[in-house]
Amino acid sequence: MPHLIPEVTPAQLHAELTHNRDLLILDIRGEDEVAQWHIEGRRPLAMINVPYRAFRRETETAVAALPSDRELTVVCARGRTSAHVTEILLSRGFRVRHLTGGMLAWSELYVPHVAKSEAEDGLLLVQFNRVGKGCLSYLVASEGEAAVIDAGRDGEQYADYALAHGLQICAVLDTHLHADHISGGRSLARLTGAPYYLPPADATQVTFPREPLDAGRRIRVGRVVLEAVGSPGHTRGSTSLLVDNRFLLTGDTLFVRSVGRPDLGGEAETLVLRLYRTLYETYRALPDEVEFYPTHYSSQSELDERGICVSTLGAARRSNRVLQALDPDSFVTTVLGNMPPTPANYDRIRLLNMGQPVPDVQEERELEIGPNHCAAG
Ligand SMILES: [Fe+2]
Repeated sequence: MPHLIPEVTPAQLHAELTHNRDLLILDIRGEDEVAQWHIEGRRPLAMINVPYRAFRRETETAVAALPSDRELTVVCARGRTSAHVTEILLSRGFRVRHLTGGMLAWSELYVPHVAKSEAEDGLLLVQFNRVGKGCLSYLVASEGEAAVIDAGRDGEQYADYALAHGLQICAVLDTHLHADHISGGRSLARLTGAPYYLPPADATQVTFPREPLDAGRRIRVGRVVLEAVGSPGHTRGSTSLLVDNRFLLTGDTLFVRSVGRPDLGGEAETLVLRLYRTLYETYRALPDEVEFYPTHYSSQSELDERGICVSTLGAARRSNRVLQALDPDSFVTTVLGNMPPTPANYDRIRLLNMGQPVPDVQEERELEIGPNHCAAG
């Protein structure tokens, strides 16, 4: 009878990392894949990379290189080869388990954190952290109503959260046409009957019904108001949401330590100047103490001790190098000179998010594999 292969689910692994459990990851993907994207913790995480081919070709040599005095957590791309390697190591007496579903499942773990819960007007702000990709999305609620902003592909989880907390989703919004992940906004809107809002400048080729998220538009959620602030630059239509004049959802315009890349729509030279105006003129009109919540982070160090990604405009003005340019030219040089790798499949993801036919898409899940690469500078 085959023995059970010990597993750890993405949610369990995340909980262990949050509690700083001392872990040793054995990542058996190729060196390039690991260099591009791997599991990170709040603290530096011990990790060994021995590609699967080494176990196949030279099993005893690969096994001999591993420490036998610590539990190993084996990670692969989809949780299949890691099961095989775990079996090999079990049969040789190792304490070992593997990550269920591999990095694909890791990239689909969303962890909700309550960022604000204010008794006065019943305001609730929940930040959903897609930890494997560094993608953030939001639920803003008041008096039993909720809006969801920049939903990840799995729209159902926001509906489930709302149901569990007695909230009715009354609006679904995307701050821009996403290129790094498949938006769950459209499916969530269908599921809940709520209107789906998208900035019109990003929706010119969109094929499904949407409401224009025009600059200045105000969307009421219970007793709070979401006000659309035009913040072009990352895309033509990029829009931020000012919630009750108290905090700002910046989408991919401003991150804790960087800004949104302006090149994914193919017009970097035009958009980088709009980004400058957004950051140096539009955002300048808002006071230092305004908290902002972005849609991405690049490193766990951008999260606070509660695991929440938040900063203030004042802190960003003091410490985000991209906000300290002396003139537009130096801003353009800094941003265009510090562009990250192009996100995998971004052109297809944009088409999917517009509702356009996309050739050769077998599996939407696979398109999103990998970290976000949305930040420049
Ligand atoms: Fe984006």
